[in-house]
Parts: sequence; C-alpha cells; structure tokens
Amino acid sequence: MDNVEDLRGDLLDAVAKAEDLEALDAIRVSALGKKGRITGLMKGLGGMDPEARKAAGQALNAVKDEVAQALDARKADLAAQALEARLVTERVDVTLPSPGETSGAIHPITQTWEEVVAIFAQMGFLVAEGPEIEDDFHNFTALNFPPGHPAREMHDTFFLPTREDGTRHVLRTHTSPVQIRTMVKEKPPIRILAPGRTYRCDSDMTHTPMFHQFEGLVIDKTTHFGHLKGCLQEFMEAYFEVKNLPVRFRPSFFPFTEPSAEMDIGCSRKGGELKIGAGGDWLEILGCGMVHPNVLKACGLDPEEYQGFAFGMGLERIAMLKYGIPDLRTFFDSDLRWLRHYGFAALDLPTVHGGLSR
Ligand code: PHE
Repeated sequence: MDNVEDLRGDLLDAVAKAEDLEALDAIRVSALGKKGRITGLMKGLGGMDPEARKAAGQALNAVKDEVAQALDARKADLAAQALEARLVTERVDVTLPSPGETSGAIHPITQTWEEVVAIFAQMGFLVAEGPEIEDDFHNFTALNFPPGHPAREMHDTFFLPTREDGTRHVLRTHTSPVQIRTMVKEKPPIRILAPGRTYRCDSDMTHTPMFHQFEGLVIDKTTHFGHLKGCLQEFMEAYFEVKNLPVRFRPSFFPFTEPSAEMDIGCSRKGGELKIGAGGDWLEILGCGMVHPNVLKACGLDPEEYQGFAFGMGLERIAMLKYGIPDLRTFFDSDLRWLRHYGFAALDLPTVHGGLSR
C-alpha cells in the first residue's frame, strides 16, 4: 500500500509538471478516480482498528484536499496560458486597411443636408451657423416675440436653469436666431443658408425632441416677395428633381415675417402612394415671408432702406418625402439595418451638376 507522505509528494509533483489540461485530467483520475491511488487508500481504511483508522483517515483527507486544490490551481494556470497563446496568434492588426467593400453608409440626414447646401450654394447662398444654446434675445425677442407673447408657448421650449443675472437660456427652438446673428454682424447684401439642430419638447410619429431645420435669409435694398417665390420654386424643383413642380403660397403667421406664407408643393396620393409633382393634392413644405421691419430694427438695420425674405424648413420632413421614409423617429434609432436600407454610398457627394441623389 502507498505511503501517504510519498503519495502526496508524487501527486503534487506530477500536478506541477503537467503540461496541458489532458495530462492534468489523467493525474486527477489516477489519484481521485474510482481506481485512483487516494481512493484505494480510503478503501483500505475499513480494515484498520479504530484508532489507526482515525489518524490515517484524517491524513488521507488532508492530502486529498491538497491535491484537489493543486489540480484546480494548475488548471486555472494552464487555461490562462492557453488563452494568452491564442490571443497572440489571433491578434488583429487594426491598422490594416479593410480588405473588401466598406460597409458604412451616409445617413439620410447628412445626405439631405449636403443636397440642400449644394443647391443653395449654386444660387449664391453662404452657409452660416449659430449656437444650439441660445439666449432669449436671439431666439425670441429680436425675432419680434415680445415677452409674454403667446407664440413663445407654441414652441414647446426647453429652458435651461436661470442664470445668476436672472436670464434663462434655451435650446434654440428654430434656426431663425441665426438670422439675427448674421444681420447684427454683417452689412447687407446678405444671402445665407443656416442648417442646424433645433429642439422642442415634443415626441410622436412626426416630432422628435431634436430635429434639423434650414433657415434662409436674403437682405438687400430691392429683394421682394416675387424673388422669394422664384427662389423657393427653383429650390424645390432641384431638390425633388421634378421640372415644373406645382407650388402655391398660403397666407400664414410668424412674428418675424410680414407678410408670412406657407408653401405647398403639388402631389398625388392615388392608391395611398405619395408622388411629388403629380397633380391633385397639396403638401405643406415650409414657412416663409418678408422679414418684419421690427426684426430689421432689432438688428440695427433701417427698414426704410433694407428689406428681404426669410424661410425655414424641416430637414427630416423633406428627407422623408423624397426618400419615402415613413417614421421620423427611425432617423435617430441608430438601427444598422435601417441605415443600410436608407443610407447612401460614401464619397458620393451630392452636386447639382452631377445629380443629387444617384
Ligand atoms: N422659424 C419658423 C419655424 O420654426 C420657420 C420660418 C423661418 C418661417 C423663416 C418664416 C421665416 O416654424
């Protein structure tokens, strides 16, 4: 029969020398398995007298525990080594260029943005920008929303905490504050397009708390409502890629324009399918008007000398209409399947001469 001390030495030595998980398992079976050496000694205990059995049993149990622990520890070591070795052989060089087609796509928001900028740039508009966190003056007061004016409520404004000086900034509710920033800073003639993010506390099929608008502003000494109509007609035909698109202007109200109008484009909804440019029905597409004299005054311009027009439209709305995207909220879901379906090829920048949306 094995001597317990020798057995302990043998087994621990074998465990330490085991080179892989298989060898380790063989040791486990040879020691603790049904016919293993420790198991064999355990069976032998039955033939001993009680005193000797107690002492030998305790010694044997201690060795059994110790060997089991050594097996576990060695197993963990070997597993860590194996993982390390695998990681070394399977390392990916992330600096290598991708071998095949790139799988990224341009988001429809970006695509539409670039298309609109390309069209207005062709007409001589410069892109202007303003901050998304606005003060009350630029978002409302200078745009002829007097304090307490009900139209302020219509905007479902996100207010920031009141500052120490008592003022309260807002997340801009439209891109119209960029009109003010431009007119305060630059002398006419002015011809700008201001694309950007806007915010309103609203969320359903057709509203998201953040969305995008395009603001247009033209100021000089002679621009009149006819120019406004011609400019927007030209834009819509270029953007929707439809010649002789029917359009109409309906009287409307904005505090910062007078007269104000909403522009509709002709469409048909036959068979439940929306077709832009076909006759019969109308689709509301943007708000516009002649810049209000109070707005010119607030920017230090003399309304007797200067005049012009402004317009504002929703980027997601015109993207949905052109590309048949039914739900506004999906723009912001970051769903890759959606992006692969509605996205555009990268490096294919829209230009008016090259075709906007190939
Ligand atoms: N700022 C208006 C809105 O958000 C749109 C608009 C811009 C209307 C410029 C007229 C002129 O609804």
